[in-house]
Amino acid sequence: MLAPLLFVWPISIAFTHYFANSVASFPYDQSLREHVSAISRQIAFEKGVPHLALPGMAQVFLRSDEIDNVYFHLLDGKFELIAGDPELPPPPLADSVVNKEHGEIHFRDDEYRGQALRVAYMYLFAGDDLAEPWVLIEVGETTEKRSQLANKIIASVILPQFVIIPLAVVLVWFGLSQGLRPLTRLRNRIEARREADLSPISLGRVPEELRPLTEAFNSMLARMQHNVDAQRRFIANAAHQMRTPLTGLKTQAQLAMRERDPAELRHALRQILTGVDRASHLVDQLLALARAEASGHSPQTLLPLDLDQLLREIVETWVVRALEKRIDLGYEPAGTVSILGNTFLLREMINNLLDNALRYTPAGGRVTARVVAQGDFALLEVEDSGSGISDDDSHKVFDRFYRADGRSGEGSGLGLAIVREIAEVHQAAASLRPNTVDASGQEQPGCTARIVFPLHRAPSARLPLSEAVQSGFA
Ligand SMILES: Nc1ncnc2c1ncn2[C@@H]1O[C@H](COP(=O)(O)OP(=O)(O)OP(=O)(O)O)[C@@H](O)[C@H]1O
Ligand SMILES: [Mg+2]
Repeated sequence: MLAPLLFVWPISIAFTHYFANSVASFPYDQSLREHVSAISRQIAFEKGVPHLALPGMAQVFLRSDEIDNVYFHLLDGKFELIAGDPELPPPPLADSVVNKEHGEIHFRDDEYRGQALRVAYMYLFAGDDLAEPWVLIEVGETTEKRSQLANKIIASVILPQFVIIPLAVVLVWFGLSQGLRPLTRLRNRIEARREADLSPISLGRVPEELRPLTEAFNSMLARMQHNVDAQRRFIANAAHQMRTPLTGLKTQAQLAMRERDPAELRHALRQILTGVDRASHLVDQLLALARAEASGHSPQTLLPLDLDQLLREIVETWVVRALEKRIDLGYEPAGTVSILGNTFLLREMINNLLDNALRYTPAGGRVTARVVAQGDFALLEVEDSGSGISDDDSHKVFDRFYRADGRSGEGSGLGLAIVREIAEVHQAAASLRPNTVDASGQEQPGCTARIVFPLHRAPSARLPLSEAVQSGFA
């Protein structure tokens, strides 16, 4: 507030100076005007020759002024002196041409003997016609009185400001600090909070102006609280899941130590191996989930890739496992289907889908993987003829650590959560639905996992003319 005040002050001084001068001029101009008309009344034309009947006393009276010097003179039509001070300057020629009217009094600022001069002057004609002989009456006065009066006016305006402005500063200071006090109180309340305290700020003592801000802050706190809760639950779940296989391992190791029979010992060791596999699978899944989640938080560079080719490569790596389980693993080629993606994350996603399909399909079943381009979308499907999924479970299975009832203790319940995280990174939608009837109208067992990606069309791709026109390329 102080900076604009200090900026406005000089401007106000300049205005005061200007107006004080014009106000101070007014009464003194008036008295000059009277002098000029007094002289004009003493002039008489006799046959066109002007005479000034101004007695010496009157001239002395005219010039008497305590502060300023007053000059006057009377010039004829040839600008030659008739009476008065010879050196008093006549009006400039341009001025006299413009202002030459009978009996009008004009003013101008001039200079005489190095002093500023205010001059009042008048042209007086012998008759009504401008062709008649004429005289010029001029009365000039130095400007000391005017300056003094102007200075007095300026001082009377500016001096009080030396008191008023500091007073205004103090009042503004006081008003602002009073006005900002609620803000300071709010800041203190926020500063005094403990780090872990994410409870909303009570709106009771918050002033009206700060309410929207506080509400926005509270809603952010609520979202943070939600995230922190989710993380806490996840850590608790993860710890619990980790403890189960580790406790199992410990028990099995204790049993193995007591075992004398080499065959039994081998059996116990094999079980320990299975337990270790399970624990390390859980750790792998936790890491994969953490990675997928981290890529969801930071912007990923997604590059164009052929989803169909990627799927074929991955399916090939699962053939051995499918053969072991006597499952018919199939892949339906589709040609190039381009999407924007991250190969590493997509590999993780497809591995999880194939792992589920093979794991939850009994021996003798069938698993088919395919990519289909449909409109603006690329559909990645893994269809199996396994145990299927209930409508209720089909949503819940994407939650972390959720496993449908009655499953053997093999999985960790994280696979589809990872799939969903990775789908989100690719702006894709993931779903797991039970199979419906096939083309021949027969009920199909099992279910289909489907991820719908936005299709990527390279700007340089050659489109058929009709499509090109539709999409505005033409
Ligand atoms: N193809 C499928 N057929 C039937 N049920 C499935 C299928 N895929 C997933 N499910 C069900 O969804 C649950 C969650 O699957 P998810 O992949 O998330 O975990 P998981 O397979 O149990 O463990 P993980 O994949 O971490 O080893 C599974 O426990 C299973 O009950
Ligand atoms: Mg799984």
